[in-house]
Amino acid sequence: MNIVHVNTSTPYDVLVGTGLLADLGNLIGRRFPGAKCFVVSDANVMSIYGAQVIRALREAHIETRSLSFAPGEESKTMKTVESILSELKRSEMTRSDIIIALGGGITGDMAGFAASIYLRGIRFVQIPTTLLSAVDASVGGKTGVNMGGHKNQIGTFWQPSMVIIDPATMDTLPGREVACGMAEVVKYGCIRDPKIMELSDELAEVAKTPSFGEQSEMVHQILEQLIEACVSIKAQVVEADERDTGERMLLNFGHTVGHAIEKATGGQVQHGEGVAIGMVVMARSAEAKGMCPAGYTDNLIRILDGLGLPTVCPVSKEEVLQAIRADKKRAGQMISIVVPDNQGLCSIVLVDMDSLADFILV
Ligand SMILES: NC(=O)c1ccc[n+]([C@@H]2O[C@H](COP(=O)([O-])OP(=O)(O)OC[C@H]3O[C@@H](n4cnc5c(N)ncnc54)[C@H](O)[C@@H]3O)[C@@H](O)[C@H]2O)c1
Ligand SMILES: [Zn+2]
Repeated sequence: MNIVHVNTSTPYDVLVGTGLLADLGNLIGRRFPGAKCFVVSDANVMSIYGAQVIRALREAHIETRSLSFAPGEESKTMKTVESILSELKRSEMTRSDIIIALGGGITGDMAGFAASIYLRGIRFVQIPTTLLSAVDASVGGKTGVNMGGHKNQIGTFWQPSMVIIDPATMDTLPGREVACGMAEVVKYGCIRDPKIMELSDELAEVAKTPSFGEQSEMVHQILEQLIEACVSIKAQVVEADERDTGERMLLNFGHTVGHAIEKATGGQVQHGEGVAIGMVVMARSAEAKGMCPAGYTDNLIRILDGLGLPTVCPVSKEEVLQAIRADKKRAGQMISIVVPDNQGLCSIVLVDMDSLADFILV
């Protein structure tokens, strides 16, 4: 098991290890003696891992309740949070008890939000089961729900008390979800750690072989290393900028264009896919301007291709710009973008909306 310590206003550990789920009773019992647990999950994840998790907790004599909600972004609302809060009350959960978010980013964001406001805030544990939530959503303390079709309009900063990541839970993830998570992994590689690019290549190679099942131990090992590396970077960035006012913006590499593509295609292109294309668009323009080494974009495209991610923008430059403008209209004329640099990492560049057009080479 690897441990990444996150030194935010309330510090916590992220545990990464294959098979950790089986040891959950001990992990929770030791860290939160005497606490009752309330497990929140979406219906998919509850049906796959709920029984195992609840059994592990009860075997360790931990009183455990649970609730599941319908999967999907449509459920990420105040209404679902209200139902979680009512159930917490009905189950007589107190400030000494804990909420366990078992699932993807939607579960983590909502269970974390409920934890942050129930009885003015109780502790919660993240058990991410998607690659995206393992490397991104579960660490950093952003919680929240959507409102009126707009993403994450309501929320809090509320750090988890512990994050437990078992890469074996990702065996059951649909391929498209794995690929989307890998887009975020590659993003970390681009902004901070070239070793992540090598490991991503390795994973693509292993995952390509026909005997994937037999190789799963190798997949788990590579995933463990990748997740630990990404979480370490997220931890550093979040420690430096817990409230997202500056450096945390680096994590947005590929996201400005990515969000625009998601929006322009009405969600046909998923978040991770948009990020993959967005990174290629920014790399291409940075390379054309001599801001990053020659060949950078081709190498990025090769890695993303190998992971089954799209690299070609499905909409026009004008559509991308229009979606970005609509998004940024209240934030004034300047916009921060993240571009690859000549140190082999990424830098934040502040541009006005007119110069932004020069950076969108689709
Ligand atoms: N808080 C943050 O910092 C942060 C960062 C990034 C994204 N997010 C949020 O995260 C959400 C997206 O997260 P996501 O991609 O994990 O989505 P998700 O939670 O909807 O999970 C994706 C799908 O995979 C299923 N699933 C989850 N784990 C599974 C498993 N192990 N096996 C089989 N199926 C499984 C889920 O039921 C769901 O259908 C968005 O709402 C986004 O706003 C938050
Ligand atoms: Zn993202």
